[in-house]
Amino acid sequence: MRQLIAATTGLIAFALGNLPVQADGIGNPARGLEYAQANCAGCHAVLKDETESPNPDSPAFAAVAATPGITRTALSVFLQSPHPTMPNLIVAGEDADNLIAYILSLKTPAETKPN
Ligand code: HEC
Repeated sequence: MRQLIAATTGLIAFALGNLPVQADGIGNPARGLEYAQANCAGCHAVLKDETESPNPDSPAFAAVAATPGITRTALSVFLQSPHPTMPNLIVAGEDADNLIAYILSLKTPAETKPN
């Protein structure tokens, strides 16, 4: 029995260790990118190397990530408020976690600070 528990615990630890999670473990950046490509890419440049947004008034996500003071909390507040130009765009729950994990993943290491 003890061996079974040890084996099971080892398996769980192995599985967790292989999940693609961000530094703080909240949200899935790959899913966030999918969500951004489906919902945000019409206006924002969403990829790391993209600097020109389709809609020039929309900041590229890499630029958003590089803004000093952009943290999970700041993005979370932003996503729960209507966009200035888009009253219906509110992102919540898992979609918001994934999106935030993705945007924060665009920060270069020097900009990464604890929230
Ligand atoms: C119809 C075009 C459009 C779409 C679609 C859109 N945005 Fe925006 N977004 C804008 C514009 C324009 C601004 C700049 C508004 C301003 O600063 O007044 C903006 C600003 C932002 C900002 C703030 C940047 C900053 O530094 O203040 C964030 C973050 C953002 N958008 C995220 C998103 C996310 C996430 C999505 C998809 C879920 C999305 N946007 C979809 C047009 C859009």
